[in-house]
Amino acid sequence: MRMYDIITKKKHGEELCEAEIREMIAAYTKGEIPDYQMSALMMAIYFNGMTDKETAILTDAMASSGETVNLSEFGELAVDKHSTGGVGDKTTLIVAPIAASLGCKVAKMSGRGLGHTGGTVDKLESFPGYNTSLSREDFFAQVRSTGIAVIGQSENLAPADKKLYALRDVTATVDSIPLITSSVMSKKLASGAGTIVLDVKYGSGSFMKTAAEAETLAQKMVDIGTACKRRVAALITNMDTPLGHNIGNILEVKEAIDTLRGNGPADLTEVCLSLASAIAHLALGISFAEARARAEESIRCGAAFGKFVEWIAAQGGDSSLTLNPSRFPVSKYSYEVCADKDGYITHMDAEKIGLASVELGAGRATKDAVIDHTAGIILSKKTGDAVRTGEVIATLYTNDESAVQRAKLELLSGIEYGDVAPAEDRLIHKIIGAT
Ligand code: URA
Repeated sequence: MRMYDIITKKKHGEELCEAEIREMIAAYTKGEIPDYQMSALMMAIYFNGMTDKETAILTDAMASSGETVNLSEFGELAVDKHSTGGVGDKTTLIVAPIAASLGCKVAKMSGRGLGHTGGTVDKLESFPGYNTSLSREDFFAQVRSTGIAVIGQSENLAPADKKLYALRDVTATVDSIPLITSSVMSKKLASGAGTIVLDVKYGSGSFMKTAAEAETLAQKMVDIGTACKRRVAALITNMDTPLGHNIGNILEVKEAIDTLRGNGPADLTEVCLSLASAIAHLALGISFAEARARAEESIRCGAAFGKFVEWIAAQGGDSSLTLNPSRFPVSKYSYEVCADKDGYITHMDAEKIGLASVELGAGRATKDAVIDHTAGIILSKKTGDAVRTGEVIATLYTNDESAVQRAKLELLSGIEYGDVAPAEDRLIHKIIGAT
């Protein structure tokens, strides 16, 4: 195999064969192919795509590039959830305890925030003591006893994806459907869960800008997972505007606690109940309607919240904060942003609001940046709301006073006003693989 020939083939839109894909991934993982050649191939794939067969082989080659987790002792009850990334997306904190309270075993590796999107591991580290790197034995023991363990991505899980994702991030080749499919599904397959539910986002805060693109991506991921004998469903959900009202780690944890106690915002509650229902439907083999009824009851009767408290405590976190969230630290500065006209908010751009929260310290501009868990934004108004001049639309929280003006300008650049209320956007465009 010569990498030059593979690049040339893809440059001309030809299909790569199985041996070429497998050898190339193995060699790249071992450091035998330089980044400049792999970058050229990624760009050729970006423009010329891959067939379903090529995408499936690439996914499998990446999944087998490192260690894999064997969750077979839990069978279909072992569940994993993945979001393609968003702003204010704290769904794992809510969905995992709902699913565990219904008898599922949530064994999950999560990522950190990068760019305008947040990451579950950062949110969980809002709890002092929470251990995101359990040993393999402790991870399994906690899944058995508590029904949930959520840790950071192990270094050697799908290492080919780690290298490729870092390369794609700096070569403008992230937003390619076959490359996202293979990246996400290689990690999900290597993580070992029998049941996988994907939250595929579309809109301004997402890689996929339209529902149609997100649907194509979702269908490909479901097909690959199903071909690998996993039970897979995908929800295609709106990320044009942030999910819920709170953006930033501690602020999002507080909103997750409210939601688990039955007092969450309607959009966040609906997405979480739908994700949890899809998980329970597939893992427990019950109808979607039955799964939905059980998920709602789990919140109503406090079982989901109780499971959340148990999970945080089991993983070493200060669970007294779950019962008394006002004890979380707060940022030194808060600053209200007000409407400068009367009318309706017709659009709140999720990406720009996410970037404003990064300015405040809630996210990372670079991979190694340190985040401020108290920083973030609370949106008092969202798309569709009527506003009057001078009314507060958002509050910014930070420990870095110098960031406030930059964040305010970024936030305001993402807000559009109009004289009439916009048509209501669908929150959940479609569910694939669960009925
Ligand atoms: N998330 C991933 O894990 N991989 C991608 O390629 C895009 C989003």
